[in-house]
Amino acid sequence: MLKIQNLKKHFSGVKAVNNCSFEIKPQAITALIGPNGAGKSTVFNLVSGILKADAGKIIFNNKNITNSSIEKISNSGVSRLFQQSRLFNNLTVQDNFLLALNNEDTKFWSSFISLRETSADKKNKAAKILKLITMENFADTLARDLSYGQKRLVELGRAILNPHKFLMLDEPVAGVTPKLREKIAEILLMLKNRKETILLIEHDMNFTFKIADDIIVLERGKVIAKGKPSEIKDNPKVLEAYLGE
Ligand SMILES: Nc1ncnc2c1ncn2[C@@H]1O[C@H](COP(=O)(O)OP(=O)(O)O)[C@@H](O)[C@H]1O
Ligand SMILES: [Mg+2]
Repeated sequence: MLKIQNLKKHFSGVKAVNNCSFEIKPQAITALIGPNGAGKSTVFNLVSGILKADAGKIIFNNKNITNSSIEKISNSGVSRLFQQSRLFNNLTVQDNFLLALNNEDTKFWSSFISLRETSADKKNKAAKILKLITMENFADTLARDLSYGQKRLVELGRAILNPHKFLMLDEPVAGVTPKLREKIAEILLMLKNRKETILLIEHDMNFTFKIADDIIVLERGKVIAKGKPSEIKDNPKVLEAYLGE
């Protein structure tokens, strides 16, 4: 589904992503893990077009999307949750969702295949996602009145709402309570059951080992290990990378 080949991104002296190569299988949860500064978010920024690569290739569904525009990449079906919040604090949860859907309407493909939805359709769609993230009682709550964890849930909802073939989630459970972590784990597993393809960045190994089908370990911009959680768990290189933090 997604193929990264010899990807490179340096920031003056820092080799953030350095000859990085890996592949993502469809209909599975893959976790990109590694110590802080390993280059995980930079890989996401390159895939979603926010940063331009110095070298290498990004192939999505057999299409070369290397250094394509953010809009083109999003239209090809890549949806993303950011590490930092991007909600509009002075809008309600529902309006944040509707705004995301209105943005969708301005995309050229939706007008093309006359997918423009009525406002009732949109409200319906927003309500379904609110239910999925168990936030149906918060539709009229202002985003600024939500707890940090609830905001993360709403942002996850927004990423799901965006029509997509591939979900990229940058640290969806960082800083949230253990209870909410469980909930987010459940949501992600439910999405996988619905045949979604998910690439997840997560610093916490316990969380990822529970839900990921495949794990890719980055250190200093390079893949140092990949495999099933059981194969990664006791890999001395991985333990060393984490301990060396
Ligand atoms: N826009 C940027 N400008 C300069 N350095 C950056 C920038 N983005 C990331 N870096 C550096 O690149 C390295 C990898 O960062 P990042 O991809 O955010 O790591 P991770 O997400 O794995 O914690 C770090 O050393 C970071 O300081
Ligand atoms: Mg990061």
